[in-house]
Amino acid sequence: MLNGTNILLGVSGGIAAYKACALTSKLTQQGASVKVIMTESATQFVSPLTFQALSRNPVYTDTFDEKNPAKIAHIDLADWADLVMLAPATANIIGKLANGISDDMLSTTLLATTAPIYIAPAMNVHMYGHPAVIENMKKLDGWGYKFIEPGSGYLACGYVGKGRLEEPETIVDILNKDFHQNIDQTFFTGKKVLISGGPTREAVDPVRFFTNHSSGKMGFALAEELANLGAEVTLVTGPVKLETPKNVQRVDVESAEEMYQAIMEHYPTQELVIKAAAVADYRPKLVYDQKMKKSDGTLMIEMERTKDILKELGERKNGQFLVGFAAETENVLEYGQKKLEKKNLDAIVVNDITEQGSGFGGDTNAVTYLNKRGEQKKLPMSSKKEVSKQLLQLIESDMKDGRA
Ligand code: PMT
Repeated sequence: MLNGTNILLGVSGGIAAYKACALTSKLTQQGASVKVIMTESATQFVSPLTFQALSRNPVYTDTFDEKNPAKIAHIDLADWADLVMLAPATANIIGKLANGISDDMLSTTLLATTAPIYIAPAMNVHMYGHPAVIENMKKLDGWGYKFIEPGSGYLACGYVGKGRLEEPETIVDILNKDFHQNIDQTFFTGKKVLISGGPTREAVDPVRFFTNHSSGKMGFALAEELANLGAEVTLVTGPVKLETPKNVQRVDVESAEEMYQAIMEHYPTQELVIKAAAVADYRPKLVYDQKMKKSDGTLMIEMERTKDILKELGERKNGQFLVGFAAETENVLEYGQKKLEKKNLDAIVVNDITEQGSGFGGDTNAVTYLNKRGEQKKLPMSSKKEVSKQLLQLIESDMKDGRA
């Protein structure tokens, strides 16, 4: 199941670094792409060449050893990773991460990534039980980092107790189960899915228009994840500067009216529809053929309502599972719930766009998923790719329940 997953393995300086070699090998055998970052201390235990040979990728040890001038390596790796595995994680790297310290290649990348981070500690039994280490681990746990607990037994330092890096086979099993959680790899295969993303543009005259800050990243991330799962994806998008994900049929539109036409054309044959687009609610009543000339004083532009596409989809629903998005700045859940009911949706994904790292433009989002049975699930801030994965698990589960 890890096949095709980009795994960034962080190796810090403990004797268990030798076990990270076996872990690299097992992950690549599963079809994952593995890139390794080692701390300076880790290189005292194992040579970077070992990881290079096992991963078939260059190994990173120095923040300033930029291998490609077109890229900044720690940011590039942070963005590349679908998941980060820290094994072995020493007390030192755990402490740095818990306190925001970024003074080498590994610690800098850990702060720069939005991918989920799994931490497999390995250290002396007394170090593992030290209040500072416990406090740091608690802090990280509270921030959503996932721990793979060390095993008990004979430790290299001579003690017997807890602190031994979990076996590579077990780590791979945990990643397989946990990272993909209960996603059924075949559920979306062959399903027809319609996604909308991006903003709309409502023309005033040939050079001016009203629009909003949507970049299309959320809609495109959903389309990409669904295509990876084998769905037949049609993506209706407003004007954005993004590449079309592989195996996605893209339909470009500009205005809310064009989006309405494209969505309605495809709607009847779909099984799942997700509307992540930020559609204009109003447009200028009069669109000038020629560029408007400025004059002294203020300008009034009369606006009229656009069609509420989602509401109409809810009215015309004929077996489709319909998911809306809502971008809100206050009473977020209450307004989201109202939209869900008013538009006859199966679920709604609510963004509190006042929250840092959530909503328009950026690479991350933090959302709450509400379904029509009144269940709520808050997803912590993570990359739009990761949010998409988690949303699809929830949607899958609700679609299955609905048909049971
Ligand atoms: O594109 P990004 O930069 O990645 O940003 C993502 C996002 C913030 C745009 C996305 O996560 C999001 O929240 N999209 C919905 C934004 C929005 O306009 O919400 P709304 O509350 O105005 O609309 C509610 C729902 O009705 C949405 O599903 C919208 O697509 C739909 N709608 C709105 C107006 C309209 N005329 N027709 C519609 O179908």
